[in-house]
Amino acid sequence: MSDTRAPHEAGTAATPAPSAPTPGAPSPKITLVTGANRGLGKEAALHLAAAGQDLLLTYRSHADEIEEVLAAVRGLGRTAVAFRLDTTEFGTFPAFVADVRAALGEHWGRETFDHLLNNAGSAALAPVAETTAEQLDSMYEVHFKGPYLLTQALLPLLADGGRVLNVSTGLTRFTQSDAAPYASMKGAVEVFTRYLAKELGPRGIAVNAIAPGATGTDFGGGYLRDSAQVREGLASVTAMGHVGDPVDIGAAVASLLADGTRWITGQRIEASGGMLL
Ligand SMILES: NC(=O)c1ccc[n+]([C@@H]2O[C@H](COP(=O)([O-])OP(=O)(O)OC[C@H]3O[C@@H](n4cnc5c(N)ncnc54)[C@H](OP(=O)(O)O)[C@@H]3O)[C@@H](O)[C@H]2O)c1
Repeated sequence: MSDTRAPHEAGTAATPAPSAPTPGAPSPKITLVTGANRGLGKEAALHLAAAGQDLLLTYRSHADEIEEVLAAVRGLGRTAVAFRLDTTEFGTFPAFVADVRAALGEHWGRETFDHLLNNAGSAALAPVAETTAEQLDSMYEVHFKGPYLLTQALLPLLADGGRVLNVSTGLTRFTQSDAAPYASMKGAVEVFTRYLAKELGPRGIAVNAIAPGATGTDFGGGYLRDSAQVREGLASVTAMGHVGDPVDIGAAVASLLADGTRWITGQRIEASGGMLL
C-alpha cells in the first residue's frame, strides 16, 4: 500500500521468456499464488513448482524478491509469470483478470488456470480494548474483502475441477493476546471457504482453508522467526516441539493442491505441528 508504482502490471522484467506449449504434451496444472515474493507464498510456489505445477505469481512490492522466485521456479523447469497486485486495491481487479487471461493464452494456450492460493496478508496486533477502526479495516480488507472479491473476479478463469485454497491461521482455534483483529478476519475467511465450497461443488472445484500455526517468516515484524524467547514459548506448547518453518507450510500447500486430495472440500486443515492441542 505504501508502494507508489502502478497497482498492477504484467511484469516484463519479472516475466521469464515465454515457453510455447508442446503439442500433445499433458498440460501442467497452473496455480495462482498471491503474495508470492516471500514467506509462505514463496515457499508454496517453490513446492508447487517442484511438484510439476506452473505458476501465476503476484507481488505487491519487492520486485527483486519476485525475480528470485521466478528464477528458482525456472530452475525447476517450470513456467511462471509475475504480476504486481495489491489485494486491497479492489478497483484494479478487472484489469488484473484481463492481464491473467492474456498471460494464460500467451504462455499456455489456455483460457483457464487450475488453483488459486489466497495467501497475501499482514498482521495488526492489538487487544480488543485498544483496537482502532483503522487496524480493523486493514485486517478486513487484506484478509477478507480482498480474498473474497479477488476470488469472485477470478471465477471465470478458474477451471472446472480446480481448487481454491485460502490461508487462515491456527489462531481461529486457539487464542493469543493481541491477535483478535487479525484472527477474527481469518475466522471470516473460514466461513467464506465453506460457502464457496458449496457454491463451486457442482463445477468440481474443491475449496479449503489451510491454517498454519506459528511459522518463522517476516510476519508481524519477524518475531516468530527472530525472538528466541517467543520461539521457546511456542515450542513448549507444540506437539512437534518447535515453531514451524516456511517449508513445512509450502509442503502442506502442495499436498492440498495435488491430485490425491481432490475429494477434500469445505475443510479447515491445520498445519501447526500440533500447537496447543
Ligand atoms: N507466519 C505465520 O506464523 C502465519 C501463521 C498463520 C497464517 N499466516 C498467514 O500466511 C500468509 C502469509 O504470511 P507470511 O508469514 O508469509 O508473511 P510475510 O512473510 O510477511 O509475507 C506476506 C506476503 O503477503 C504480501 N502482502 C501483504 N499485504 C498485501 C497486500 N495488501 N497486497 C498484496 N500482497 C500483500 C506481502 O507482500 P510485500 O512483500 O509487498 O509486503 C508478502 O508477499 C498471510 O495470510 C498470513 O496471515 C502466517
